[in-house]
Amino acid sequence: MKKKPRYLRLANTLSTAIREGKLAPGTKLPTHRAFAEQCNVALATATRVYKELERRAEVVGEAGRGTFVRDLGLPPTLGVHQTDAEGLIDLVFNMPGNMGDTEMLRTGLRRLSSAGDLEAMLRYQPHGGRTHERRIIAESLKPTLGSVPPENLLITSGGQHGLAIIAFGVLQRGEAVAADTLTYPGFKSIAALQGLDVVPVEGTDGVMDPDALDRRCRTRKLRAVYLIPTVHNPLGSVMDVTTRQRIVEIAQAHDLLIIEDGAYAFLESDPPPSFVALAPERTIHVGGYSKSIATGLRLGYLVTPSRHIPCFLEAIRATTWNAPALISGLVTNWIEDGTLAKSEDDRKRDGAERQAICRASLPNLSLSGHPNAGFSWVWLGNGMRAEPVVAALKGQGISASGAEPFATTTAIPQALRLAFGGIPKADLSGVLGKVRHAVEKFAR
Ligand SMILES: Cc1ncc(COP(=O)(O)O)c(C=O)c1O
Repeated sequence: MKKKPRYLRLANTLSTAIREGKLAPGTKLPTHRAFAEQCNVALATATRVYKELERRAEVVGEAGRGTFVRDLGLPPTLGVHQTDAEGLIDLVFNMPGNMGDTEMLRTGLRRLSSAGDLEAMLRYQPHGGRTHERRIIAESLKPTLGSVPPENLLITSGGQHGLAIIAFGVLQRGEAVAADTLTYPGFKSIAALQGLDVVPVEGTDGVMDPDALDRRCRTRKLRAVYLIPTVHNPLGSVMDVTTRQRIVEIAQAHDLLIIEDGAYAFLESDPPPSFVALAPERTIHVGGYSKSIATGLRLGYLVTPSRHIPCFLEAIRATTWNAPALISGLVTNWIEDGTLAKSEDDRKRDGAERQAICRASLPNLSLSGHPNAGFSWVWLGNGMRAEPVVAALKGQGISASGAEPFATTTAIPQALRLAFGGIPKADLSGVLGKVRHAVEKFAR
């Protein structure tokens, strides 16, 4: 009888181990290369083995994360990861990941499943979130935001939802909102949908110039100013306290609401006082857990002056009714048992390592970025244009972005945004090396 090919024999051995439970669901298999070395076969053979196991729906491969044993009792589509990046190496979306995430989720779910009134989580919840969870979140924000009354904190379905709630709840179509000349694209998208006029205000490296804001206020009526003062997206800067105080004075003089976005603020080890602490009567603070724990959770919060609460509750009711209690339960548990603090520390450390790799890989380029963030901004000098560089990278299987999605002015700077928080660290210098070559190719 003809002997079965080597890859099939290896696949069968692994199948048997999986079916007999020797390789438990969730187990991460070695990388293709490590498996090839272990079994003394070619890399292509190892790849065929894993492909065969995927075909049998016994493992799932997640681009950049590895190959995991599936729970065979569950339908094959469960646990399959899907991204929008069309198989490209994604430098556009900032999706930090962590090898410990799977275990963190498993432990969190196990704890949640033994919590008291589990069935209550299947019901509609109060629009602003459950009282004890608002208290837990408010308490956890004390070190960074100062004292936050839990009644003034509303739980949202992520930071993006929080921004949408602000726009739907208190901003009227046609009103003008000041923002940095480079800002978070998700805010631009909400402003466009809600018919808000985004008024660009100059600054340096993402730190708004208070005098420029003052000048804008003198030429037209502004309703609010949107700021990302602690770890700016996309530039990574942290606004100093004097500038914050100056902005508060201008906001008071011209009766502006301050929308403070703290999506990445946890990355800064020594943050200046927040706008909530400096001007609680006119600041709405938005935060979330995407960057500190996981993007897929979709959990966040708004801290707001009391007068806006009814409008915000109405906006939450109209959009999501409530953030899912299963998720808020999971996250507040993680806050209480120290998992969040650990995850924040891990992210900071990981971001710092990645920034160091970025600076070493792009030595002669002009970069802006926070020392702990998993993203950087590359200013292209000498009349260089970003578009051909982005196109060249795409041709090499790398998706990157120019400045356009972030720009609020028509004078768009020529630059690249590199979000590398989700790229396997071992691949990072190779990927960034390709970025460097692409930039050098078009440099004059
Ligand atoms: C500055 C900023 N604000 C808000 C968000 C939205 O985050 P979430 O995933 O919590 O909706 C992001 C996401 O990238 C962001 O960069």
